[in-house]
Amino acid sequence: DWTMGAYREQMVEKIRTDVGDKKVICALSGGVDSSVAAALIHEAIGDQLTCVFVDHGLLRKNEAQEVVGMFRDNMNLQVIHADETELFLGELEGQSDPETKRKIIGKLFIDVFQKYADGIEGAEFLAQGTLYPDVIESVSFSGGPSVTIKSHHNVGGLPEKMGLKLIEPLRELFKDEVRALGRELGLPDSFIGRHPFPGPGLAIRCPGEITRNKLNILREADAIYLDQIRKHGLYDDIWQAFVAILPVRTVGVMGDGRTYDYACALRAVTSVDGMTADYYPFSHEFLGETATRIINEVKGINRCTYDITSKPPGTIEWE
Ligand code: XMP
Repeated sequence: DWTMGAYREQMVEKIRTDVGDKKVICALSGGVDSSVAAALIHEAIGDQLTCVFVDHGLLRKNEAQEVVGMFRDNMNLQVIHADETELFLGELEGQSDPETKRKIIGKLFIDVFQKYADGIEGAEFLAQGTLYPDVIESVSFSGGPSVTIKSHHNVGGLPEKMGLKLIEPLRELFKDEVRALGRELGLPDSFIGRHPFPGPGLAIRCPGEITRNKLNILREADAIYLDQIRKHGLYDDIWQAFVAILPVRTVGVMGDGRTYDYACALRAVTSVDGMTADYYPFSHEFLGETATRIINEVKGINRCTYDITSKPPGTIEWE
């Protein structure tokens, strides 16, 4: 893609000029956006880049190992695996309001980066994989008050007190363009094709109060759901698919006994850029088979629903 080739060259030049001989730390979330941002910046300045992978304990099953392994082994990036699970889950304990949860996570992200940035001599820049849709969902309408649909923790929330300058090399791009740029940079297709994953992670797929137990149940259900989607060859037809664990337990029967376990909702949408979305029209066979697997294989879930809400009026995530 010649357009992305030109964009890549321009950005590499711009990053080199902006950064000079200083160091950059990159907010690596494991998503396509931050991965492409990291690859681009690495191409520009090599080992002047250190990636910090903040493990907030809100990641999917095996996610941390996969992401850290991929960046260290395949791409030769310097990656710090910052396991801050205790910090995040501790601060989130007892919190059920969606915006409060997002704000706590956003604030801790900044604190954690500050901590790691302080440990890297000469670090003056913080890189983020902010995309154009993130930017425009947070802008003010002309003449009116600033309207934020959801507080994306990775947009505009970085206070100057952090003492780091921001680099956002993907700020002008939509998701499909970011993927093209990633391919251009030689990232593996399996990685480029990954569904987006939100910065706040499983926190926004666990409506209401987060507990370790709910997170563990959610991880297992989500892994089975994605396994089903891959096995049926549907992964690439879907923009994003995930399970949300609902803050309600329901009665079921298992053998001779009564169960009283969590209900979950499966979500899958098609979209071009995440701004609008339609629910994915799975076959009834697929849904039935998947629900049966989740209920049989995941201890703690006894009911499964399918979310058929489009965006708008819904959002893709549950919080
Ligand atoms: P919504 O739920 O707003 O999501 O329809 C649109 C897209 O954005 C992702 N998303 C986020 N990504 N930080 C992110 O990096 C966030 O705080 C955040 N909130 C939502 C969501 O997964 C979907 O792809």
